[in-house]
Amino acid sequence: MHKVPLETVKVLVIGPGGREHAIVRSLLADPNVSEVHAAPGNAGISKLVPTYGINGNDPDAVAALATRLAVDLVVVGPEAPLAAGVSDAVRNAGIPVFGPSKAGAQLEASKAFAKEIMAEAGVPTAMAMVAANAEEAASALDTFGAPYVVKDDGLAAGKGVVVTRNRDEALAHAQSCFDAGGSVVIEEFLDGPEVSLFVLCDGQNTVPLSPAQDFKRIFDNDEGPNTGGMGAYTPLEWAPEGLVQEVIERVAQPTVNEMARRGTPFVGVLFVGLALTSRGTRVIEFNVRFGDPETQAVLARLKTPLGALLLAAAKGELDKAEELRWSKETAVAVVVASENYPGTPRTGDRIRGLKKVEELEGVHVIHAGTSFDEEGKVISAGGRVLAVVALGSDLVEAREKAYDGVELVQLEGSQFRTDIGRKAARGEIRVSAGATGSLPITNAKA
Ligand code: AMP
Ligand code: GLY
Repeated sequence: MHKVPLETVKVLVIGPGGREHAIVRSLLADPNVSEVHAAPGNAGISKLVPTYGINGNDPDAVAALATRLAVDLVVVGPEAPLAAGVSDAVRNAGIPVFGPSKAGAQLEASKAFAKEIMAEAGVPTAMAMVAANAEEAASALDTFGAPYVVKDDGLAAGKGVVVTRNRDEALAHAQSCFDAGGSVVIEEFLDGPEVSLFVLCDGQNTVPLSPAQDFKRIFDNDEGPNTGGMGAYTPLEWAPEGLVQEVIERVAQPTVNEMARRGTPFVGVLFVGLALTSRGTRVIEFNVRFGDPETQAVLARLKTPLGALLLAAAKGELDKAEELRWSKETAVAVVVASENYPGTPRTGDRIRGLKKVEELEGVHVIHAGTSFDEEGKVISAGGRVLAVVALGSDLVEAREKAYDGVELVQLEGSQFRTDIGRKAARGEIRVSAGATGSLPITNAKA
């Protein structure tokens, strides 16, 4: 059936990464969307839509561009522009924006603030203490015991967290944060599988997307340092029934209510990072934007037109939005990263084979750290370079297709994990009984 477009929405997407490429791709598939623009974008995005070389973290520059283009909606992808107040500037210019205010972005930008809101809203999370010096850090570490969890209080692109059994290493990470003028949050260790749940919020209403799992460490079997995320898959066949509903009731809605009560309504994605521990479901962290690379997998399955949905959220009308529809297929995203990532990545190398990947059925490439050389060829330009995303009838098939694609990508020195979704495909993920059913223990205080 041919659908008559409901609205003609012109959208500007802010951000340079894979998440933004995935968002642009989905917006282009929405019959309601008439035009998509992006800033600053990357090589993959610029092949699809006009891009603009502005500083996406500059509120005035983004508001000016949105005004000049006369867009109906701005979608802010990454946390940095949100924390810098880009959404506020766009909203002040009278343009609907999907992305929280600077105040709302504190849920991600300050782990201490997030803990305060969680405590206020009764959200189950890890017990935590804030430490501002070595003495406080040592005392907090000894309160919780090993494994130690030490988090930089500020934004650190997913790399500010150290989880270790080595007390000296934990102390050293805390000290490096103090030396940089910051403080740390020290937490009890949460065991159990992790889940990323994205919840669309319009200041009042909440709509969950399909849960995904991310792979944070650089090497197979969750070894090596944390990264921004090396791959993802969705849906989660092994997740306890009712998990999403409970996270809405116990986590997302109370958080949205608390933010509204404080006069800082939350509009955008509340990304709930969860651990399904033996003592119940706990929030590991909040982010205030779509996850990367989970979005690459999640949006590959979303059949509901994305532009209409994000516009409804931006306008406070999620209660009127169409109910979400999902593909029955499973999606897997495997990230190809540069040599030396998550350290200083090697960049500037030609990337070959991408056309061949796109020729595979049900497989596509999402660019992240890419740009063009003088000859117009695609080169690497960041740590996480791209993701190969595949849809399959089940996780086994989706994995096979994604890795068939990854094998075709030629980039000198590049690295990828070979075990994205492997445990789940083998039925090896165990959720302990304590993590299913209700969320029994509320925010225990230290
Ligand atoms: P975050 O930046 O808070 O998401 O932390 C990054 C990663 O560190 C998470 O995805 C977890 O794998 C790990 N992590 C963070 N907090 C804890 C915790 N309390 N217990 C166990 N692992 C954690
Ligand atoms: N993949 C996790 C994140 O976006 O923070």
